[in-house]
Amino acid sequence: MVELSPLRQDFVWGTATSAYQIEGAVDVDGRLPSIWDTFCRVPGAIDNGDTGDVACDSYRCWPEDLELLKQLGVDAYRFSIAWPRVIPTGSGAVNAPGLAYYDRVVDDLLANGIKPFVTLYHWDLPQALQELGGWENRDTAYRFAEYAAVVGAKLGDRVTDWATLNEPLCSAWIGHWEGRMAPGITDPAIAVRASYHLMLAHGLGVAALRASAPKSPSVGLVVNLSGVEPVSTEPADIRAAQVADGHINRWWLDPLFGRGFPADMVDVYGVELPEQPGDAELIAAPTDFVGLNYYFRQIVKADESVPVLGFRQVPGPNPEHTMLDWEVHPAGLEELILRLTKEYGAEKIYVTENGSAWVDQPDQDFNVHDTARTAYLEGHLAACVRAVEQGAPLAGYFAWSLLDNFEWAYGYAPRFGLAYVDYPSGERVMKTSGKTYRELIASHRAVGV
Ligand code: FCB
Repeated sequence: MVELSPLRQDFVWGTATSAYQIEGAVDVDGRLPSIWDTFCRVPGAIDNGDTGDVACDSYRCWPEDLELLKQLGVDAYRFSIAWPRVIPTGSGAVNAPGLAYYDRVVDDLLANGIKPFVTLYHWDLPQALQELGGWENRDTAYRFAEYAAVVGAKLGDRVTDWATLNEPLCSAWIGHWEGRMAPGITDPAIAVRASYHLMLAHGLGVAALRASAPKSPSVGLVVNLSGVEPVSTEPADIRAAQVADGHINRWWLDPLFGRGFPADMVDVYGVELPEQPGDAELIAAPTDFVGLNYYFRQIVKADESVPVLGFRQVPGPNPEHTMLDWEVHPAGLEELILRLTKEYGAEKIYVTENGSAWVDQPDQDFNVHDTARTAYLEGHLAACVRAVEQGAPLAGYFAWSLLDNFEWAYGYAPRFGLAYVDYPSGERVMKTSGKTYRELIASHRAVGV
């Protein structure tokens, strides 16, 4: 078992999910469509024609999810709030039944000694706002701040830990540049403007939470980062790696940490940023932590045929790749935590997501012996420990995910859960990885006793 004693005694052990990936009940209690409901209807957009209509049915089966959290013995649960449940048209009227659902989730968590870590935006923009231009429209950032204030005022007497956005990279680049995620746009100029407005929304959201939440909130942004390495020492590949690092990492971290959007990337994109006075300060408003989602590193090669960016990703050399062909590379997590610490001076870091998809097969007794996921978990926790031993202010780790769920454009086939979900019955059972996680948490708690 991994030696966890170097981690701080109050290290936060958690798991994570997001609303659209687990809740289902998309037309219940006043919820209106999000861009993901719409995107799932585009022929060919989602593998197997899957949708989030039912997902894990967590809107109705929340008590079962809570049971899993209790079985794991986690300190915290990171979940997201569906904006289209709370303010179904994106602005204006608040939908009390939608908000009541999260009220209950929060109360149940606290009653069981589990801290709610709330993410306000995990990609499910109300479709009504998309009709008005979505993230390309500056107004959306202000609508987000209004929504943040509503949620902060309602839950902020009990919730202290908040993330504004989850992975603006995916919203902007995958949703608006590559078109593989909602809203399915393939226009780099729109994507750059969307990325800017997402970061503005983060800044406005921080201010809104600080103003509305009765208890002093701890607020941060969750970013997904990847260490980038050139495939060779050829100058073109080295330059490609710099661009890739700018696109994947610096574009988000630099403005967040007060350095502004990287000028070299503005040149690469060739798009004028929709800047207004005061934006940079808002975006760089002090936060209480940075949330790091880590899945894989990226090895890149120069490729002039790729428009604008001029690089493409090539397979990593480690022999092990997950079901999604993501290279297993725990050292990449250690490096990113240290980079946040040393290069950006981050004072508090949570790993807000980390996990792996494999083909899980329950045995006759409905047990799932997911040895590859268990090894992945232990390998990455060991990487966290190494980072802490080198001085990183790592305060917690959230395994992705509590349970198998709707993996966006890949549908239900990739399973990331510590608990298995039998579709369509929805029956849940803890996998070996979940049981191991439980033991690891218990072993770490025992250290200080
Ligand atoms: C991250 C997302 C999360 C999940 C994992 C596998 O990019 O934040 O919702 O899909 O990947």
